[in-house]
Amino acid sequence: MSAMDVIRTKRDGLRLTGEQIDWVVGAYTRGVVADEQMAALAMAILLNGMDTTETARWTRAMIDSGQRLRLDVDRPTVDKHSTGGVGDKITLPLAPLVATCGAAVPQLSGRGLGHTGGTLDKLESIPGWRARLSLDEIRAQLAEVGAVVCAPTDDLAPADRKLYALRDVTGTVESVPLIASSIMSKKIAEGADALVLDVKVGSGAFMKTREDATRLAEALVGIGAEHGLAVTALLTDMSTPLGRAVGNAVEVEEAVDVLRGGGPADVVELTVTLAEEMLALAGLPAADPAAVLASGAAYETWCRMIRAQGGDPQAPLPRAGHTQVVPAADDGVLAQLDAYAVGVAAWRLGAGRARKEDPVQHAAGVLCLAKPGERVTAGQPLLELRTDAPDTVPAALAALDGAIEIADAAPPSGPLVLDTL
Ligand code: URA
Repeated sequence: MSAMDVIRTKRDGLRLTGEQIDWVVGAYTRGVVADEQMAALAMAILLNGMDTTETARWTRAMIDSGQRLRLDVDRPTVDKHSTGGVGDKITLPLAPLVATCGAAVPQLSGRGLGHTGGTLDKLESIPGWRARLSLDEIRAQLAEVGAVVCAPTDDLAPADRKLYALRDVTGTVESVPLIASSIMSKKIAEGADALVLDVKVGSGAFMKTREDATRLAEALVGIGAEHGLAVTALLTDMSTPLGRAVGNAVEVEEAVDVLRGGGPADVVELTVTLAEEMLALAGLPAADPAAVLASGAAYETWCRMIRAQGGDPQAPLPRAGHTQVVPAADDGVLAQLDAYAVGVAAWRLGAGRARKEDPVQHAAGVLCLAKPGERVTAGQPLLELRTDAPDTVPAALAALDGAIEIADAAPPSGPLVLDTL
């Protein structure tokens, strides 16, 4: 088999055979197929697509590039994956909530890249908290606490780690079969019994339109079905930031508010909705996550989860050295607060990274002091920018240009959950 033949097949719009896929993914993982050859193949896939059979085989080859985890827990395991958004801190309250309701939640999470935040970056703002755990530590924590949020182990779909980094720098991220196989290879290798997908739609998401998000959701659910994994996908709105906090420590603070029975209504709604879906898939449909959340019991599980990974849940979180307010230009109703622009502003302030190896600032971010639909008066603070590097503020303000719309009346507000597949 040669890489040239595989590239030519897809370049010419033909289907890849199972043998070609197994060979090229395996050979790329071992370094036999070079980065430039895989980049050419990824571009051919982006332009010419892969059908369901090819995508399922590609996913299997990526899983087989490493080890499948055996979680060995005595309760049903269920995970959630979000395709990424702005202010999306839902994993933080969700994992301890679902664990408190009786399922085990192994949540192997990622870091932020670009304008979307990463769960591990957020949790690392908690003093002492450790993202990297061994498989034995993951199993022990699942048994004792019921929830673990940590970095993927090194042998979990290594082909994806290599290919994702390559796609990121070759303009080949935005391919539905490549995104779907990337996400699902990691989730299937992780070994949970069931998975709920939160497929984001809107300016702050990968998928800007409902049609594209539906195509991605169908591909994800289809791969899950091929691999015997119970999957539900929710399409949820990402046109405006989720909650009021966008960044790292600020999002942890908001998640803790939710776990203590408070927090913004949209974060509470999505946390409870996803928990209900996860518990239904895990065979625990009678659980009442809304009541558990309001009772504060999930906060106790959160504290145990953080402590189990070396963190101090009571320690003060980092505070930014510099803050700047963005005021409302007019009286009226906040009609729009664009998710992408706020995500880019937080990123510019230091909450995100431009390259995988860059550090993030734990305290940087944006607080949305008003949410769409709320009445505002001219001069009222709308956003609070937080950073340790005041020289980043002009770039953040530039990113926010055109992001805020104030109108005479509130536009009709759409639902947070747009569809369920
Ligand atoms: N998230 C992933 O894990 N992979 C992709 O390709 C895109 C988003």
